[in-house]
Amino acid sequence: MKLAVFGGSGLSGGAVVRLATERGERVRALVRGAADPPAALKDAEVVRGDALDPDAVARTIDGADAVVSTLGGFRGPESISGGTENIIGAMRRTGMERLIVLQGFHIEFPGDPHNVGRAVTNVYLRLRCPPLPGHTAALGRILRSTDDIAWTLVRVPPIVDTPASGNARAGRFALSPLSKVNVGDIAAFLLDLAGSSAFVREAPMFAERTGKARRSDRGSTVAANS
Ligand SMILES: NC(=O)c1ccc[n+]([C@@H]2O[C@H](COP(=O)([O-])OP(=O)(O)OC[C@H]3O[C@@H](n4cnc5c(N)ncnc54)[C@H](OP(=O)(O)O)[C@@H]3O)[C@@H](O)[C@H]2O)c1
Repeated sequence: MKLAVFGGSGLSGGAVVRLATERGERVRALVRGAADPPAALKDAEVVRGDALDPDAVARTIDGADAVVSTLGGFRGPESISGGTENIIGAMRRTGMERLIVLQGFHIEFPGDPHNVGRAVTNVYLRLRCPPLPGHTAALGRILRSTDDIAWTLVRVPPIVDTPASGNARAGRFALSPLSKVNVGDIAAFLLDLAGSSAFVREAPMFAERTGKARRSDRGSTVAANS
């Protein structure tokens, strides 16, 4: 599989690129700024540019089989909505279908269970970057209105920088302010999704199993939840 990655200089995007190249997949990653790319990108093809530039986005996805976007918004919240619109536009122009997007579980989707942690997260985001929740909500609307791309929005609680545990689950479930997920599990899940048709045009939560869920709900994430 040839993968295009947006957000590869960040925590979860870097983990996706590292795991994909370890698995022998070809990766092209868009990186902005003049600094040397992080070590995670050493075996990837790096495209210099900004996700808000449609040409840079088109160059990144050219010839790819699937796209993974972990674009963040703390250094420019419009990247989350505008960057995703550019990715979808470029995918449409080239007939590409599979798009995996990572975002927080604070983005609401119809039919979600009540999540106590969502209100806490929204307060935190508004304090840290007031325009950010508007752009993440827009991302949800953009994806929900996109029916010609096989997108999956993976919604996560706070991410911890630890290796894969194999103890995470995906689906529709309530999260608490204490919920978390580790970046190794996220990388494996996003890559598995990129190569499968699980959760197409769905927005599963993805988080570490705790308590009752840990005892009763085991198995591989994509297979067990698709
Ligand atoms: N970390 C968490 O606990 C957590 C929890 C829930 C949800 N999330 C969300 O999940 C996503 C991934 O999280 P993360 O922690 O991996 O994020 P991160 O470390 O902040 O990485 C975000 C990445 O997006 C890139 N980016 C942003 N705007 C861009 C643009 N216009 N053009 C090119 N690249 C751009 C950043 O590049 P630069 O290095 O150039 O800035 C960086 O590589 C984010 O949207 C985050 O808000 C994170």
